[in-house]
Amino acid sequence: MPLFPDHLIQEVAEKNDIYELVSQYVSLKRAGSSYVGLCPFHNEKTPSFSVSPHKGIFHCFGCGEGGNSIGFLMKIENISFYEAVTRLAERANIELPKPDTTDFDRGNEKKKERELVYAINKDAATKFYENLKTSKIAIEYFKNREIDGAWAKKFWLGFAKDSWDDMFVYLKDKGYTESDILKAGLITGNDNGKFYDRFRNRVIFPIFDERDNIIGFGGRVLNDDKPKYLNSSEGLVFSKGKNLFSLNNAKRTRADFVILVEGYMDVIALAMNGYTNTVATLGTALTPDQAKILKKYFKEVVLCYDSDSAGRTATNRAITIMRQTDLKASVMYLSGGKDPDEFIKKMGKDAFNSALEARKTDITYLIEYYREKYEINIDGQKVAYIDELIPYLLLITNPVELDVYVNKLANLTEISTQSLYSQLGIKKVNSPQKITQAKTIDKNKIQGGRSKVDITRESLLALLLSNRQLYEHYGKYLSDDLFGGGVLLDIFLYIKSVYEEGKNIDINLMMVSLKEDNTKQLARILSIDTHITDEIKAFKDYLKTLKEQVRREKIYETLSAGNVEQLNDMIKKNN
Ligand code: UTP
Ligand code: MN
Repeated sequence: MPLFPDHLIQEVAEKNDIYELVSQYVSLKRAGSSYVGLCPFHNEKTPSFSVSPHKGIFHCFGCGEGGNSIGFLMKIENISFYEAVTRLAERANIELPKPDTTDFDRGNEKKKERELVYAINKDAATKFYENLKTSKIAIEYFKNREIDGAWAKKFWLGFAKDSWDDMFVYLKDKGYTESDILKAGLITGNDNGKFYDRFRNRVIFPIFDERDNIIGFGGRVLNDDKPKYLNSSEGLVFSKGKNLFSLNNAKRTRADFVILVEGYMDVIALAMNGYTNTVATLGTALTPDQAKILKKYFKEVVLCYDSDSAGRTATNRAITIMRQTDLKASVMYLSGGKDPDEFIKKMGKDAFNSALEARKTDITYLIEYYREKYEINIDGQKVAYIDELIPYLLLITNPVELDVYVNKLANLTEISTQSLYSQLGIKKVNSPQKITQAKTIDKNKIQGGRSKVDITRESLLALLLSNRQLYEHYGKYLSDDLFGGGVLLDIFLYIKSVYEEGKNIDINLMMVSLKEDNTKQLARILSIDTHITDEIKAFKDYLKTLKEQVRREKIYETLSAGNVEQLNDMIKKNN
């Protein structure tokens, strides 16, 4: 969003001393080359908020906030980037040109477009709900499934009439244009350029986003016709892989764990029994995006999929994704019903609660799940059994946890833990984090949310930023793929491009050049304490650890893609 030219933004950031600016809001005490104080962005009793005048940044080890003077003012005054730059420019007597607002307008336009779709969807949901109230067959359908009027209302359930244009006409009368209604995915065009309702003769389940906007609908047939469910088409606001059914309700419970089920009906049945902390995917396998969203609100995900083999396979995949997201997963198993909806109706709430209480950790579940598939008294099958579990054990990043399961498996199979570890390809590496950075990492731990591999990446980047010579000597070993694909790669590419030109890094210029969201991460990296006695040794250690972690990540990816042959190759190559 370049409202102003980069060099001016840089000048504005530079001429506003971060220490002076922050001091107006926070009382700061000197600590070495930086200052510390109580963070104004979260509640705390001991200071974890630090300001480095030399680097021009602030960073909180407690809540993870960070940035330069512009970022600080935006956050503390709750103002826009434009506003913050303008105020700081005034403060430093810098004259700003009239801003270039083309990108800004374009951003606004998209937002307006999305908001229009939300409005159309909301009107449509109201209409679907009205239809339901007067439709005998739809009321009958929900009654049969034990959903009464009160619950239908809570979930905004509805009915799409058996008509080609009931909704289309209704929305046009409300003043929406054909192209807007099309954007909302509520109508479909045929070859003759005629439009007709997408949802016909189906009961309707509106799908909300985290902020209570209606982003789309699922519609179910009333009989055994196919397809059973029809969803809104993917578009401007509806994306199956990035949303979860009933997340808006679940997040409000502020429960520690969320129950993840497969179907809309499962969510409603569990909510009716008091488990409002239940969400469902939208007809596709769980995606990493969805896992990340769940991680924002919950500490644990309880997988509660259908008890058929598809459900079991989906469970295993979801475990992999959850491990990659560093989100605790457990599994509950329901025998006595094909899905949670049927189970709770047939067996009752107490039975469900017992199953919930008896849930297993993800890995324990897998150890038991595969145990049933193999006859481990037969040697060959014992080996195959262990091979099934290896890829999952590789997902465990906590060494203590890994030890727990390796021991469990060793006892069960009467194989030595050493053999199991060597099968895992793990030469117990001494992570440099333990030696050189115990302090920093410890502080960082409170922020949570970041994977081990990202922490290594950040440490490596911190060293690179503080010492150009490291890049000159070892740059050739740093391939782009070591830095994943997100912000950290952007930061690495930036460092690389500056160093390749033989220049030094200017932090303010860097802040400006990176996307706005990335400055927080940069501030965190910059505040990593790099005063390490042997930088070269630390650098090499991080690099080695990172390579190992990236190799493991690749194994996980191959695993989630289900490519077993390739996976075995990868594991063998490393033994
Ligand atoms: P299920 O077939 O298990 O549906 O699909 P369900 O929710 O238990 O529905 P009932 O109990 O038979 O009415 C699970 C989910 O997969 C998606 C839907 O999101 C559904 O809730 N799905 C299923 C589709 O998107 N399309 C389909 O044709 C079927
Ligand atoms: Mn089902």
